[in-house]
Amino acid sequence: MNPKKLQTPYEVMQSMLDPLDEAYQSHENKKDGTIQFHFSCHGEICSCYLKANAGHLTLHTGETENPTVTLRCHFFHWLDLSSKKLNPVWGMLTGKLKFKGDLSFFKTIPDVDYTVMAAEKFDPPTPFEKNPSKHWTVPKSVVIVNASPRAKNGYTDLFVSRFADGLKEAGAQVEQVYLSQLNVKTCVGCWQCWMQEKGCVFDKTDDFLTLYEKVNQADLIVYAFPLYVDGMPSILKNYFDRSVRRVYPYICTDSCKMRHPRRIVRKQQAMSVLSICGFPERLQFKALDAHFKAISHNFHIPLVSAVYRTGAMFLFNNPFFYKQQSQILEHTQTAGRELALYGKIKKRTLRKIQQKLSSHSEFAKMSDYFWENKIKNQINIRDY
Ligand SMILES: Cc1cc2nc3c(=O)[nH]c(=O)nc-3n(C[C@H](O)[C@H](O)[C@H](O)COP(=O)(O)O)c2cc1C
Repeated sequence: MNPKKLQTPYEVMQSMLDPLDEAYQSHENKKDGTIQFHFSCHGEICSCYLKANAGHLTLHTGETENPTVTLRCHFFHWLDLSSKKLNPVWGMLTGKLKFKGDLSFFKTIPDVDYTVMAAEKFDPPTPFEKNPSKHWTVPKSVVIVNASPRAKNGYTDLFVSRFADGLKEAGAQVEQVYLSQLNVKTCVGCWQCWMQEKGCVFDKTDDFLTLYEKVNQADLIVYAFPLYVDGMPSILKNYFDRSVRRVYPYICTDSCKMRHPRRIVRKQQAMSVLSICGFPERLQFKALDAHFKAISHNFHIPLVSAVYRTGAMFLFNNPFFYKQQSQILEHTQTAGRELALYGKIKKRTLRKIQQKLSSHSEFAKMSDYFWENKIKNQINIRDY
């Protein structure tokens, strides 16, 4: 049986008691008495009472006889009241809070703000996030995360090397990291990185922290990788899973889709995608593109460009495409230069990189021949 269960309002109240009792010790208006609560929550009623006696506060379940004051309300309205988000008079007038008895007794209980500090909660989209090219300056440092499991043997590397050349032409300092060559353990979902600063359980035993710090310093991060099963290779997905420490656990509701506020605040960091795939249609990248837009939103890092090259293996294994190969790589270099200079790639350059190579039936014929030939002759295609 799964031992996990939701906290009851009583358990939440218990977790609030320690800071309340601590504040009570130095509180001037101490007075003995009892507050009886009747909380409604998810269709249930939870009754408990807070007893002030001999300089201490204690919490009890159930009902007490002759409480000094009784409060009947929704549990969340009590949370709002105790953190001063709900004015008690307004709460009474709107019917959210129903008091009975000596209301002034609440003054003998200190206010403790249980809400997260506003500065940490408030992180709306910055002008740079909304319109990166308008506020763009040529990035001084660029980190390319090459997430092709084949690293330097992959076609990804051919494309991204030229993209890097373009970035360098515009004056950026570029460092390429091969993710598959690093020891990055799989995120185990323990939340330790959210419980304390730099607190991942694997920090001392793998390479992630060094990579994480390098990436955090960069003005621009380029993610380069082949499409795997309509998405990113698992090593890159794991890299993003391990990166959730970039944000606080708290929730900000100040954008179209809820997200967490940033723990790492770099006002002008941008990211870019360069991905290649085997099939010839653009449609192959639909799911990945949506995923990257969501990641960009979650981490508050604008996605300034996305280069998707289909039929990559076909392009390099077909002698008739010799000219297109060099043209496409040339345009990939131009794209890197444009991105560094303007914070975006010109549509014309993207069209040249993403140009159609052949009809789909021709592609299918060539591809089938390629595989049939390799399978029949048992040719090792690891290095293709
Ligand atoms: C496990 C695996 C899954 C793949 N899934 C897709 C896919 O869903 N769609 C696609 O068009 N190509 C797919 N491909 C093809 C690769 O994206 C393509 O061969 C790419 O050029 C490989 O890049 P690399 O040379 O850097 O390894 C897949 C390849 C592998 C090995």
